[in-house]
Amino acid sequence: MENISLHSDTIEQVKERVDLVEVVSDYVVMQKKGADFVGLCPFHDEKTPSFTVSQSKQLYYCFGCGAGGGAIKFLMEIGKQSFRDVILNLAQRYQIPIKTLAPQDQQAIQQEISLRDQLYEILSVASNFYQHSLQQKEGEKALNYLQIDRNLSLENINKFQLGYAPDGWQTLYHYLVEIKHYPVMLVEQAGLIKKKSKGEGYIDYFRNRLMIPIQDSQGRIIAFGARSLDGSEPKYLNSPETNLFSKSKTLFALNFAQKSIIKQDQVIVVEGYFDAIALHIFAIENVVAVLGTALTQQHIRQLSRYTQSKQIIVNFDADKAGLKATERAIKEVENLVYSGQLKLKILTIPNGKDADEFVRSNPESTQTYQELIKKAPLWLDWQIEQIINNEDSYNSADYELAFQRIVRLINKISNNATKDYYLSHCAEILSRKKNPYANFNSDDFKKVYQSLISATKYSSYNQKKSFPKLGNFSQNSQQAEFLLLLIYLHCPDYRETIIEELDNKDLVFTLKSIRFLWQTIHKLSSSITNDNNQNILLMTVQENMVNYPQFAHELNPLFNLSENYQQVLYEPEHIIRGSIACLESVKLEKYKQYCQQKLNELNQEKDLTKMTFYYQELLTTQTQLKQLETQRMKNEE
Ligand code: UTP
Ligand code: MN
Repeated sequence: MENISLHSDTIEQVKERVDLVEVVSDYVVMQKKGADFVGLCPFHDEKTPSFTVSQSKQLYYCFGCGAGGGAIKFLMEIGKQSFRDVILNLAQRYQIPIKTLAPQDQQAIQQEISLRDQLYEILSVASNFYQHSLQQKEGEKALNYLQIDRNLSLENINKFQLGYAPDGWQTLYHYLVEIKHYPVMLVEQAGLIKKKSKGEGYIDYFRNRLMIPIQDSQGRIIAFGARSLDGSEPKYLNSPETNLFSKSKTLFALNFAQKSIIKQDQVIVVEGYFDAIALHIFAIENVVAVLGTALTQQHIRQLSRYTQSKQIIVNFDADKAGLKATERAIKEVENLVYSGQLKLKILTIPNGKDADEFVRSNPESTQTYQELIKKAPLWLDWQIEQIINNEDSYNSADYELAFQRIVRLINKISNNATKDYYLSHCAEILSRKKNPYANFNSDDFKKVYQSLISATKYSSYNQKKSFPKLGNFSQNSQQAEFLLLLIYLHCPDYRETIIEELDNKDLVFTLKSIRFLWQTIHKLSSSITNDNNQNILLMTVQENMVNYPQFAHELNPLFNLSENYQQVLYEPEHIIRGSIACLESVKLEKYKQYCQQKLNELNQEKDLTKMTFYYQELLTTQTQLKQLETQRMKNEE
């Protein structure tokens, strides 16, 4: 295919038709600013938008890295594609006839294009088959489930083209391949059948399941979600990734939601197919669902094309919606929020219901849900609420902890105006919290505000200078062990990370006092319920250590924090990364020496196999050490 040349007619027509803003918004979330659009540059890492697109000139330029050009160049660079491929893709997208220079190449091009069209066709025929089966005797159970358990009318069942995959091993296979004569290869590529794990032949991918077609924004079926009806696992099975379908790029119900998203200028993202279906039925139509994944950058870019205000409201299951789970679900798009590119809000339904259960539960639910939408707090406010508001009164340890978490949060905000706003906002809440019985006192407020400002300034600007450098690994391994324990004791949020890192990399502490403390922590933690707000572990360990005066000198600094160490707690990720890398390199360095020693001792005549082994180990270790060094340089930047 690569050597087929396109006719200049096609190239000219594509150039005329293509719109840079449309092209770029597949990759960048953009906001209108005067006559131009701006967003975060996709060609380099940045926190404030300096990537500018001029619609009238059809040119882009990044003030940060100097990248610039037109639509074709943009696509070539971003997709690492050739000129020819970019033109070809655009021609397909805009349905411009593709002419080739050599007439005999025409056929090859047509084949490439028609593959996708054939897959669309097969999926659509399969969907008709599933819909038909739902109306047959075999589909009765599924139909009852939809009408009775899910309370769906026939009209709604038809709107979402819901269907039933019969229980046989090859029902769809027979229909598509033997009756309709679609090529087996294509049916397999559509994700509808799969090779038998043993022996020859194919079986249906979906069997005895409720079928929910997944459509692209133009309403073409690209995949299926399928719910089991008999409690078998998995509850939901999605089509495999195909030429047409990628889970992390697709949003269920987008085709039905587009208009309403534009009209409401906001979009609601739910977790489940039936949450989306139920809300649509209850006349809340600016709703899409993710397909069992977290929210991805691609999701957001698609959605932000339809909303000017970039308002995205996430309504995930309330029972799972702890801070951690929600954080995970939106981690990938967080930087868009902190840089002010996205207004992300969190909607929580009371009593742990999901959207589907909620709207079906009472007649006024549409209205109540709309009120929940209006009241949904911004992601930042929601986090602050989670950190601060779940305690009625604060003792000083709680207060310290909340304070540290808030500082970490504010430090992530890169937009200065937003940062300033949240600084005073948090200072105000914190100062009120500190003494819940007294009225708000402006002296208190000033004090907290000052300490917040200095804490955030300190960690974002001066951190690297004042920290003991983690650069020289071997000399600082004691320091690294110490810092890890410091974070472990004082930042409950990071305990899991530290344990995972140590486990994954198979690392142990070497300093005697630290080893002892680590063992003590493990002994004590089993008897402590994990309450992150009251740092009980810290208190218990500290009390316990009184019995071991021989370690007091080395370990006391872990409990009575000097100012320098307090700063460590404001941005722990960086320190954990550095410390783990340090311990890793010490371990590797030791192993390297061991291998070298072995190589010296062994006899070339007798122990050739062993020698080869140690030689290879030595090389691997050296490579790993080099990688760590590169990582360290990055971490220090
Ligand atoms: P849930 O299991 O949280 O529940 O799945 P639900 O949507 O309320 O399911 P119902 O109401 O019992 O039918 C939420 C979403 O997570 C994905 C699906 O996209 C589902 O809609 N999921 C869930 C899977 O992909 N696989 C699974 O096994 C379960
Ligand atoms: Mn549900």
